[in-house]
Amino acid sequence: MRIGILGSGLMGGKLGTLFARAGHDVVFSYARSRQKLTRLARAATRRARAGTPAEAARDADALLLAVHWSRVDDVLKQAGNVSGKVIVSCSLPMNHDDTRLVVAHTSSGAEALARKVRRAHVVAAFSTVPSEVLFGVFQARRRARRPSLAYCGDDDDAKEIAAELIRDVGFDPVDAGPLRIARYIEPFSLLVAQLAYEGKGGPQLAYRVERFGRM
Ligand SMILES: NC(=O)c1ccc[n+]([C@@H]2O[C@H](COP(=O)([O-])OP(=O)(O)OC[C@H]3O[C@@H](n4cnc5c(N)ncnc54)[C@H](OP(=O)(O)O)[C@@H]3O)[C@@H](O)[C@H]2O)c1
Repeated sequence: MRIGILGSGLMGGKLGTLFARAGHDVVFSYARSRQKLTRLARAATRRARAGTPAEAARDADALLLAVHWSRVDDVLKQAGNVSGKVIVSCSLPMNHDDTRLVVAHTSSGAEALARKVRRAHVVAAFSTVPSEVLFGVFQARRRARRPSLAYCGDDDDAKEIAAELIRDVGFDPVDAGPLRIARYIEPFSLLVAQLAYEGKGGPQLAYRVERFGRM
């Protein structure tokens, strides 16, 4: 596939490199310096190159959105026309100092994004712990060997593309259902990210998943 990376920081830089190494054509875009994009592209493979968001979007089969929530409007504006594109988003709707979600409860960042780009097909992808709404899907996949990564969206073709990309970076894709499920998963995803950044000295997360019998 041709994949445009919108936001080449920790997430976009890493995922774009893995996509290129898995054989996709990758355009890294949107960093504060062009040299960084060129460096990332050179280190990935010959299949990767640096470009502008508009160049990343032009011929892309899929776009990875990996910017801070406060940069989403800017990068989309620079990308230009994204009608018909599959946009796999890992951007969480965080405030400026990443302490809380700015969209929550009755909507999600994923749904807010889908409203911004109505003619594109948004799939939200998360690393997450199982939340109650996902017990069923995780149970169906409990023999999977690779770590799970949940994704949700309203367009089946776009979700197939997202699932392929999730497999390419070493995770087992878990279809969590329609895009509105993102409003339940985003808070968990935030929790996981916060715990990861706290490191060993930080709080520990304990959770228990119970298997319920048939009602
Ligand atoms: N879904 C999940 O499970 C999950 C997990 C972790 C993170 N996230 C989310 O993923 C998103 C990206 O996270 P990240 O850690 O990769 O962020 P990041 O490292 O800060 O990357 C953001 C990118 O945007 C670029 N950028 C920022 N301001 C810019 C500007 N004014 N002009 C041009 N480029 C600019 C940065 O440039 P530089 O490279 O020059 O800094 C960087 O390449 C966030 O929304 C985060 O919440 C989601």
